[in-house]
Amino acid sequence: MGKEVERAKIAVSKAIENLQVVIVSSGDPGVYGMAGVVLEVVAQEKVNVPVEIVPGVTAATAASAILGAPLVSDFAVISLSDLLTPWEKIERRLEAAAQADFSIVLYNPQSQGRIEPLAKAYEIMLKHIKPDTPVGIVRQAGREGETATITTLRNMLNCEIDMVTTIVVGNSATKVVNGKMVTARGYDLSN
Ligand SMILES: C[S@@+](CC[C@H](N)C(=O)[O-])C[C@H]1O[C@@H](n2cnc3c(N)ncnc32)[C@H](O)[C@@H]1O
Repeated sequence: MGKEVERAKIAVSKAIENLQVVIVSSGDPGVYGMAGVVLEVVAQEKVNVPVEIVPGVTAATAASAILGAPLVSDFAVISLSDLLTPWEKIERRLEAAAQADFSIVLYNPQSQGRIEPLAKAYEIMLKHIKPDTPVGIVRQAGREGETATITTLRNMLNCEIDMVTTIVVGNSATKVVNGKMVTARGYDLSN
């Protein structure tokens, strides 16, 4: 973290020397990952280096599968990290997504020294989303120590949340059935 440009520049310089280079980026490299900065560096260097981006399973869908099926309808993905995005813009996006009844996936929710963004996001969501809306909290998805909790928006902040956590906030059609978080798409199940 914080050395992405340096990593991309080293990789591109090696590729210019005709070496085959792989940049490893967790989850999907195109979702808050290294794919974008590598393409930007290649363009800036004005070199003809072919870049192949191999898709992966992003934390949103990994968490969704662990929780049940909360993302079968429209959803928004928002990072709470204001390192590269101004906080005002993050707030506007949260407000819009909450108002529009999207299920919302939160990446980069908080770290030890950075708890304020999640507290602010919580207040924004509570303005538009019912407090008893299901919320899924998944830590270390697909890794050793994986944990998953289904709670409510009201109680969300009482759970353990760190930088390897993805939060899935349901929409108005999300419910908990048989211990799983499910967003109803509107199918008629009576036949
Ligand atoms: C910089 S983003 C990288 C996302 C990654 N490229 C992806 O597609 O999942 C880092 C954030 O992704 C989420 N994340 C990454 N790996 C995770 C995992 N194994 N379990 C839960 N959340 C994860 C967390 O919200 C973390 O703060």
